[in-house]
Amino acid sequence: MPQIYDLRLGDAVFAPYGADLACRAAALAPQRVLELAAGTGIVTTRLVAALPSAEIVATDLNPPMVDYAAAKVPGPRWEVADAQELRYADASFDLVVCQFGVMFLPDRVDAFRGVLRVLRAGGSFLFNAWDALDTHVVEAAVIDAMAELFPQDPPDFLRRVPHGYADVDRIRDDIEAAGLEVAELERVELTGHAPTAAALAEGYCLGTPLRFELAERGEPADVVAPLTAALTKRFGEGPVEVAMSAHVVRARRPTP
Ligand SMILES: C[S@@+](CC[C@H](N)C(=O)[O-])C[C@H]1O[C@@H](n2cnc3c(N)ncnc32)[C@H](O)[C@@H]1O
Repeated sequence: MPQIYDLRLGDAVFAPYGADLACRAAALAPQRVLELAAGTGIVTTRLVAALPSAEIVATDLNPPMVDYAAAKVPGPRWEVADAQELRYADASFDLVVCQFGVMFLPDRVDAFRGVLRVLRAGGSFLFNAWDALDTHVVEAAVIDAMAELFPQDPPDFLRRVPHGYADVDRIRDDIEAAGLEVAELERVELTGHAPTAAALAEGYCLGTPLRFELAERGEPADVVAPLTAALTKRFGEGPVEVAMSAHVVRARRPTP
């Protein structure tokens, strides 16, 4: 899964926001950086380039992701870590970064308290979360296709999880409930580029947790062709422009 995720969805869906977060990280000039839910290292690559003298600890819950990313992005210290239960020392980082990971956390306020604890006073927590499903042209089209392919019981991972934390009032409330303060909260629209609809179909069916929902209904690989057909009908035969929107947040540990 890490390789399919990285090669089929990396540039098209995740890299544009990774560049955005790395640029925001560089402006903060941190010395010690913790990245959570780093996946295959799409943001990490850009953090390494943007912060050449920083010490970066890059983590993910999923060991195969960490193995793949550590081979792809040497330099940071790579570790398996649950963002829900951080075990790093108090006040040990200037910056915590998390791209498209907070939506997966079962108790975000508790996780944000953990981030607060490991940040030094005045340190920042930079993260992003997808906006509502209908602001992501490709993922909305995938959900439409799932409804046609599985009318009785359509897989809804994309709506439920990645796009399930799109309410800015809720994000703001969770940050403040954890004791952090909101320094910036911005809706950012970006466009990614995929070579073909087929690449996206393979990426979603086999490189994301949609795969597990498909496996409950049959063989996930068998869905790639019909999803390719649906996405090609919607976006055409050639390269696909992936218009999308996310909330980008900088929270800060208050200074005493
Ligand atoms: C959508 S991917 C984002 C990966 C990467 N940040 C990127 O931009 O490509 C979500 C990642 O969250 C990780 N994840 C899910 N739950 C987690 C948890 N409790 N702690 C740390 N990582 C988690 C998954 O393993 C996956 O790599």
